[in-house]
Amino acid sequence: MTSVVPSPREIVAELEKRVIGQREAIHEMSIALSKKLAGLSVGNILMIGSSGTGKTTLMRAVEAYLEERPHLSLRSTVVRMHANILGEAAQRGRPGELILERLLERAREQLGVDAATEQLLEQARGGIVFVDEVDKIRAHVGDRPNTSGIRAQEALLTVIENESVPFNLPEWAGGGTVTVDSSGLLFVCGGAFEGLYDSVFDRVTIGRDRGALKPVTVVEEDGVHEKLIFALRDWLRNEDLFDYGMSPQFLSRFDAVVLLADLTLDELVRIFLEVPDSGYHQTRAYFESRDLHLALSPDAVRRIAVEAATESRLGARALKEVFRRVIRDYELDPQANGPNGSVLLDVKEVEAALNP
Ligand SMILES: Nc1ncnc2c1ncn2[C@@H]1O[C@H](COP(=O)(O)OP(=O)(O)O)[C@@H](O)[C@H]1O
Ligand SMILES: [Mg+2]
Repeated sequence: MTSVVPSPREIVAELEKRVIGQREAIHEMSIALSKKLAGLSVGNILMIGSSGTGKTTLMRAVEAYLEERPHLSLRSTVVRMHANILGEAAQRGRPGELILERLLERAREQLGVDAATEQLLEQARGGIVFVDEVDKIRAHVGDRPNTSGIRAQEALLTVIENESVPFNLPEWAGGGTVTVDSSGLLFVCGGAFEGLYDSVFDRVTIGRDRGALKPVTVVEEDGVHEKLIFALRDWLRNEDLFDYGMSPQFLSRFDAVVLLADLTLDELVRIFLEVPDSGYHQTRAYFESRDLHLALSPDAVRRIAVEAATESRLGARALKEVFRRVIRDYELDPQANGPNGSVLLDVKEVEAALNP
């Protein structure tokens, strides 16, 4: 039976079809998934990466990977939710209950409405829970406490690595209270943790650990310079995440903290050209529907990526926004631009659209 479980390498190859770059995160995820599908226990994962670097894309890639392989998806029921709703849910009912409810609903979708509640609970217990935007449930924002965040972290704590979680069964599952062993769940949480980069940089340059980051001498074309070269992964410590507002108990539940890298120019180009739901592919489909073929020169694509990279807070999301500006007028009057059945854009056209 175990022979049908794909190896981490096989999973990596599939996830790489949807996620560009982010090797470390893909590797960590693939190892965890392979173990989970083999029925082994796996440590929880926390993913940290700037907005638009692929955190949600990676979670969705795992969902899609399993959805396309029913024999694998039955081995592990997956749900994905925003951390925010956990705070709201904790306010109303029993903490953590929402997570179990979602898993149970998903298990019913998989096993059918006739499946016995016992069977659904068994299925749900081995699930994978993606909690997105986990940085939104920080315990404080600045100096002000964030009550719903505190509650949501507590809610998560009740279901992470807990062998007996009281759970009110929903009406459709017969109602009543049962005790669920949730220690077999795999949690993968992700968040942008905006501001974390700056606060860690400050800590090692002007703050508590002032002077820890030493300038290095670099030789450049215009001479020799002293520079501070800072990478979050070299300096991030658990205390930085406590300061951010994640409780020590919460953090102690994660075996792996993975940092997603900011995307390089080449990666932005690849995302633009290769990701199936990119603005480029959507627009191409639109032109095709009008019997027109859209083509961009490599330089034109690169120019769009360069423009997108200037909006570093948006990550790859900026590609869509920049491309909208470039393509809007062409979409308005597609025929006018393509008398011979094709619309060709070079740097000149991109430049003109970006700087009208
Ligand atoms: N590493 C990546 N590989 C492929 N697409 C990406 C990547 N990063 C971002 N994108 C694209 O950018 C958009 C935002 O990415 P998303 O994963 O939602 O970012 P976040 O890290 O904020 O969750 C998506 O449309 C996605 O297609
Ligand atoms: Mg996201």
